[in-house]
Amino acid sequence: DKILSGKHLLITAGPTREPLDPVRYISNHSSGKMGFAIADMAVKAGADVTLIAGPVNLPTPDGCKRIDVTTADEMLVACEQAVSQCDIFVATAAVADYKAVQVAENKIKKIGDELTLTFVKNPDILATIATRTDKPFCVGFAAESQDVELYARGKLKNKKLDMIAANDITADGLGFNSDNNALHVIWDDGDKHLPATTKPKLAEALLLLIANRFNSKNIV
Ligand code: C5P
Repeated sequence: DKILSGKHLLITAGPTREPLDPVRYISNHSSGKMGFAIADMAVKAGADVTLIAGPVNLPTPDGCKRIDVTTADEMLVACEQAVSQCDIFVATAAVADYKAVQVAENKIKKIGDELTLTFVKNPDILATIATRTDKPFCVGFAAESQDVELYARGKLKNKKLDMIAANDITADGLGFNSDNNALHVIWDDGDKHLPATTKPKLAEALLLLIANRFNSKNIV
């Protein structure tokens, strides 16, 4: 009856926060709502759910195991610790692309009219998980402002994903930090447009596509 009975899902959600010094950080406005909605709906669909959350202001969905992290490095470690028991990995987190090359030990002082900081690339959590020999079924998100399908297909291939959910961040009232979204879900031999609706309803529709695709890939 339940479409995800017996399946273990690992989900990342929210932003990451990268410290600059003991009092400051860089981050982004990701609310975590999409990932938390997917976690909630996956539990309701019968799945065992581990939710790795960056700093967000959201209650833990009933029945899921939540692990709170701050930085991209911490999120990667938490994912690597949980992934071997997982069948499906859904990466919704808006991971910061860069972190400070060195976190200042003391508060950076206000000296001079300009400040230059050097950043280094963060690990790509999804791409790292998707290259493991024991890789789960991997689902990514692609928030794009132009050539949405083209960039999404590029990420599907380059990150070795099983499925990608693309959204156009220029659409009014949808996506980032909003309660509603629309998705164009793409896999290697098919795609489906999920029209604008609430994030919980969208999560339900996305999980149905994931379950169908997972099952057809895993038929022996
Ligand atoms: O390359 P881009 O950041 O657009 O890819 C987005 C997808 O990759 C999302 O699923 C996001 O959660 C994941 N990602 C990640 N680690 C990163 C960057 C992105 O897991 N450092």
